[in-house]
Amino acid sequence: MAESRDRGGDGNPVPESEPEVSVGRRCLVGATMGLFGVGYAGAIGYPMYRYLHAPVERAALAAQVTEVSPQGAQDIPPGQAMGFMFGSRPAVLIHHADGQWSAFDAVCTHLSCTVKYEPENDRIFCACHLGTYDPRSGEPTSGPPPRALTKFVVKEKDGAIVVSRN
Ligand code: FES
Repeated sequence: MAESRDRGGDGNPVPESEPEVSVGRRCLVGATMGLFGVGYAGAIGYPMYRYLHAPVERAALAAQVTEVSPQGAQDIPPGQAMGFMFGSRPAVLIHHADGQWSAFDAVCTHLSCTVKYEPENDRIFCACHLGTYDPRSGEPTSGPPPRALTKFVVKEKDGAIVVSRN
């Protein structure tokens, strides 16, 4: 039971109310700390969640895209190429000097640098470790790449160039 003291000076004891206030303050402080904890966990956890799941989500999105019509592709002169995005991945579309077309995933099969077509050397080149690929088959021709680039199918449809997985 709470202890009473004479605070008013009139001889009547006034009931001590501090213990109830202390419990209330403790609850308030506890609730505040809990909210800060939840906020802190969210501030740290959400970016970590995004970081860890982003590659999975990107891969899922990339797999959903089966066909792309790169804007302006029909205007690529023979012997030139353009980069474009196939879903979330970089890709390269090559218009060969003989009028044929090739398209590849532009992620190097060695350590995932982005490759590019070199018209002056008629090759696909990876500057990271000097890997090269054949611009028609995508097969590695020199350097460390262990396997071919993923090749896409290229078709002309209604005056546009359409690149698809198969
Ligand atoms: S990442 Fe392309 S050759 Fe190493």
